[in-house]
Amino acid sequence: MRIESPREFERLGALRVYGLQKVYELDAGPETPENASDRDVVRVVPTEALHAIESEMAIVVPVRNERLKLIEGVLVGIPHNCLVIVVSNSPREPIDKFYLEEEAISNYARFTQKKILVVHQKDPHIAAAFAEAGYTDILGSDELVRNGKAEGMIMGSLLAKLMGRKYVGFVDSDNYFPGAVNEYVKEYAAGFHINGGDFSMVRISWHSKPKVVENSLYFAKWGRSSRQTNQVLNRLLGHHSGFETEIVKTGNAGEHALSVDLAMAIDYATGYAVETFHYVHMLEKYGGLLEGGESANDMHRLVKISQIESRNPHLHEVKGDEHVDDMIAASLSTIYHSRLCPESLRAEIEDELNRRNYLKDGEQLAPMRIYKSLDRMDFDVFTDRAAPALKVVGEKSKKPATV
Ligand code: GDD
Ligand code: MG
Repeated sequence: MRIESPREFERLGALRVYGLQKVYELDAGPETPENASDRDVVRVVPTEALHAIESEMAIVVPVRNERLKLIEGVLVGIPHNCLVIVVSNSPREPIDKFYLEEEAISNYARFTQKKILVVHQKDPHIAAAFAEAGYTDILGSDELVRNGKAEGMIMGSLLAKLMGRKYVGFVDSDNYFPGAVNEYVKEYAAGFHINGGDFSMVRISWHSKPKVVENSLYFAKWGRSSRQTNQVLNRLLGHHSGFETEIVKTGNAGEHALSVDLAMAIDYATGYAVETFHYVHMLEKYGGLLEGGESANDMHRLVKISQIESRNPHLHEVKGDEHVDDMIAASLSTIYHSRLCPESLRAEIEDELNRRNYLKDGEQLAPMRIYKSLDRMDFDVFTDRAAPALKVVGEKSKKPATV
């Protein structure tokens, strides 16, 4: 891959947010050119380096009631060396959708020998493992893992650690283009190669999202939710740095990846607020802005967020617009309720939500449920309890679990 070096970054405490990086070539050849240097404006990441990182990466695919053909297309796009972890929250009644998914995925894995772990979000063994390991917040009143994309992601991240992977990435299961999925994963790998470090995150900003407008194709750049979220996140950063900025382009990046160490260290917001809260929380935890924040040790560690602009158009399942407002409110709520949010920005958020008729006069924006970091649970207990319930399909050996 040939990719631009980040031209700028904003630094707050230990947190560095890099500017958007453009991709110039999806495949730049197998080896590093002889005259290449780390200081080049456009960097070459050789295919070999991408493959090496892919072998250390798990890709979590969250699923809720998607069409099997779409899920299969997503699996087709994930590079072979990645471990795939499908976390499904599809209904089991009246039709056992999960059974159909498992069967289709196992079949697919047989043809490709791709390593795929398929789990259900409501698996009672995994829920019991969470309980015994002391991480009960994620469990609902039925003592199973709660609904929500973030909840599935948290489960997937933990399984990535359990399976010994160093990086964990996410791709939605409703993507129409296997080529786009393939590109996202390559970009995660390129981001880790270039910006490295143990505490690193890569977020994708789609180049375009095709829509039909007046009978012709229109390649839109920003969704409604991203536009809003990015603007407010940039205002938050600008408030604390003292300089207006437009650095954040990936406030709602469903497609993102991070080192497993970082995934274990950060808190999570529920459902679709999860991606925006990454910024808010990392700023709270590593930005050096709050009294009683992180210890000096944590402040020494550089935490990097890189943002990469993908080239394939992003086309996913159309599910109606109703939840866009909910998504905006959920994202903004994580900013609104942060200790870092100044009064003036709170007022702006309220105005925006009033304008959208999301908040009636006098109503307050509800806070999102926050899950504390996974590193406070007993990981060995979780592993002992959860591992026997896991089955990797697509491996040649018939062992029930590979841990
Ligand atoms: N495991 C699990 N559990 N997966 C879920 C759940 C759940 O409760 N709910 C949704 N999913 C899966 C869906 O099947 C899909 O693959 C993915 O999570 C995203 O859900 P969508 O419903 O397709 O979300 P979206 O397309 O509106 O929003 C996506 O893009 C946004 C950026 O524009 C999401 O990735 C958002 O998180 C992201 O901010
Ligand atoms: Mg979608």
